[in-house]
Amino acid sequence: MPSILEAYEALHRGSRVLAERAGTVFPSGINHEARAFEPFPIYVERAAGARKWDVDGNEYVDYVGGHGALLLGHNRPEVMAAVHEALERGTHFGASQQWEIEWGQRIIDMVPCVERVRFTSSGTEATMMALRLARAYTGRERIVKLQEHFHGWHDLVVGRQGADDARPHSTGVPTGFYDSLTIVPSGDVAALKQALDARDVAAVILEPTGAHWGTHPLAPSYLQELRRLTTETGTLMIMDEVITGFRMAPGGAQERYGVVPDLSSFAKIVAGGMPGGCVGGREDILDFLEIRPNDPDWNGERRVAHQGTFNANPVSAVAGIAALKIIAEQDDVARADAATAALVRGINDLFKSQSVPGSAWAASSMWHFNLGYDAPHPADVEWTIEEQPRGILPALVRPFRQALYNHGVDLMGNSGGMVSSAHGEREVGETILAVGAAVADLRAEGLLD
Ligand SMILES: Cc1ncc(COP(=O)(O)O)c(C=O)c1O
Repeated sequence: MPSILEAYEALHRGSRVLAERAGTVFPSGINHEARAFEPFPIYVERAAGARKWDVDGNEYVDYVGGHGALLLGHNRPEVMAAVHEALERGTHFGASQQWEIEWGQRIIDMVPCVERVRFTSSGTEATMMALRLARAYTGRERIVKLQEHFHGWHDLVVGRQGADDARPHSTGVPTGFYDSLTIVPSGDVAALKQALDARDVAAVILEPTGAHWGTHPLAPSYLQELRRLTTETGTLMIMDEVITGFRMAPGGAQERYGVVPDLSSFAKIVAGGMPGGCVGGREDILDFLEIRPNDPDWNGERRVAHQGTFNANPVSAVAGIAALKIIAEQDDVARADAATAALVRGINDLFKSQSVPGSAWAASSMWHFNLGYDAPHPADVEWTIEEQPRGILPALVRPFRQALYNHGVDLMGNSGGMVSSAHGEREVGETILAVGAAVADLRAEGLLD
């Protein structure tokens, strides 16, 4: 019987050829670090619903979902029709257009904290803008972020944010840039309080489900404490909803958990599978983007400047409108949540019945694995256990993912995935079988007890 690696190489010959070519064009052959994979990544040719197909004709149940952008699955007909129609009119008018208004209005109608919106072209730009607005509004420079929480790749939040690191880091960022950044352990109320006590912090930014879309879960009670402490100290609360927005509820994590921040960043689902993002929040804060006629002091010295060629482009706008309309009016959020719950329960049953050291859990339609240690099982689906999950042990990550590819499943990152409303019973059943087969492969190679 071929090994996991031999099977991977045999099934993905076309991908290997493309990866070799890509290696001569891009550093490491890729354009997003999450797409790096050993010995080479798969090259995908087309997608539909909950599935995608690679250049070798292999079919996958897809848990990447456009890096989380596709709550409605690939190629949802209403979204595709809107995009096709928009393309007929042109891709960019270099001017304001009517669709951006409906797009922004829908966000205001759906998300509790949003009174005003400003579109950007990505989530990275949205968190950058939110932090800049917070500094402008409060007149304070210090930012607090939580250890490991991911907010894109601009200077302030860039790089590897490992638990031992005092600061995010990537070379190429000026020395001293981080002097006004404080990183506190995620979920530690006392540390947060201490960081805010001096009342010199402009904003706290965080992922509401915990770092890396809940890989390191955060108790919802922490969000309430954070809201209380930020209000008390005149600090703004920025909920980064780039992943959770329009996924955990039509109004995002802030609706689901009932905690309303001052500002939020969005991307991914907000643009219906096209590029786009936005900052939304309190009117008095977003007003720092205003251009005031006859006020050169404000315009030159005090306001926050903002440009961006593809902000609110008409194609992203109509895709966003179509997606948000579906999410507001139909039961897609609930269906994706239900499929995720079935998947998590199925994997946990499988692990128990086969004495596999590991467990699965989820928050809304984002699910995760523990594997390779005697991990606690959640009471049902969500991680309400005190102890933090350890995820997939590092030595197992690569062979487990390779084995899952061999059996037709594509994970998001190293330890879980994003479920869409196009994932149904069939996909859930196939995935549980694939996980069982991948575990058997790991055992056959002596990698797992
Ligand atoms: C929570 C969070 N914030 C910000 C970003 C950055 O968004 P983008 O990749 O659109 O720049 C991401 C990307 O995955 C994210 O997960």
